[in-house]
Amino acid sequence: MEFKENFSLKPFNTFGIDVKARYYNSFESQSELEENLQTKNHGQSLLILGGGSNILFTGDVNGLVLKNDIRGIDIITEDEHYVYVKAGAGENWHVFVQYCLQHNLAGVENLSLIPGNVGASPMQNIGAYGVEIKDVFYDLEAYHIKEEKCFTFSLNDCEFGYRDSIFKKRFKDQFVILSVTYCLRKQPIFHTQYGAIEQELVQMGVNKLSIQAISQAVINIRTSKLPDPAVIGNAGSFFKNPSISNEQFSTLKESFPNVVAYPNNDGTFKIAAGWLIEQCGWKGVRRGDAGCHPKQALVLVNYGNATGKKIYALSQEILESVQEKFGIMLEREVNIF
Ligand code: EPU
Repeated sequence: MEFKENFSLKPFNTFGIDVKARYYNSFESQSELEENLQTKNHGQSLLILGGGSNILFTGDVNGLVLKNDIRGIDIITEDEHYVYVKAGAGENWHVFVQYCLQHNLAGVENLSLIPGNVGASPMQNIGAYGVEIKDVFYDLEAYHIKEEKCFTFSLNDCEFGYRDSIFKKRFKDQFVILSVTYCLRKQPIFHTQYGAIEQELVQMGVNKLSIQAISQAVINIRTSKLPDPAVIGNAGSFFKNPSISNEQFSTLKESFPNVVAYPNNDGTFKIAAGWLIEQCGWKGVRRGDAGCHPKQALVLVNYGNATGKKIYALSQEILESVQEKFGIMLEREVNIF
């Protein structure tokens, strides 16, 4: 078992932050993971890395970093309505989406082009354009680091919420997700209610709806306003969209009639954080190589050599100014390490 020492993590985080891991290795199976942990885990802090698309490194990692490279996409069973597909946690998410499109399996087309790996999808209940992973999730296998054994988590076990799951809360840092099984529909249910999708489909001249057309529409929308991490470092939305009470929303709307908000099921309102940030004048602002993206204010970017500390400091300034102007405290979506 060979560990790389003082190994640069720049290629392994989509922000492109140049920090070093004291020890680094990858694993392609549960047994390789176990071997890695047995050899090196004693007394080290441990970070399991997936696609690195939702993490901001603010300094070197003085411990062990293990990259999850467990691959494989397989249909495991099917019934009248569904096909159950199991994917290794280290598979690239969009590769999995493409597999589903090629096999005419519906449910993840709205989630096209989300950076990151399969393992992160349940971790933060990834979502976009009206669909969340919980809508297609069947179960997952995860390895408990301390107990050294595998557990299966059903939909209910995962306690999914908005960009949230049990793995970000009670079970944080306790499990390594090994594989995820999704249940995809043979007959699609199209989700085009998210305004921009309808518009894009019209623009594309689509007259017969298909999961492939929806996927292309989503890809077009995403590439038009979200920076490609391969070109400009970023981790997607840096903050969550905050929810506020009905009363708070009414007061806010009196002062800011143009506020962009969506009603939740429980009477609260979700406010577009991108709008709040833009109103505070941050859209397109640069602090050296750290910036707030000119086309989507919710996305912070690394134009080249920004440090994680600089990006974090910018996020703090943004957070404080939104709090001051609107009385709303934003919450970071990205994991800070
Ligand atoms: N808006 C602005 N200014 C901006 C950005 C947004 O005014 O700079 C307003 C616009 O009115 C826009 C609205 O906010 O119509 C919503 O913006 P958008 O459709 O871009 O979505 P979002 O709420 O900013 C969320 C997710 C994204 C996901 C999109 C599409 C979160 C934190 N983010 O962003 O997910 O792709 O919806 O469904 O919920 C991610 O999690 O990394 C991510 C990119």
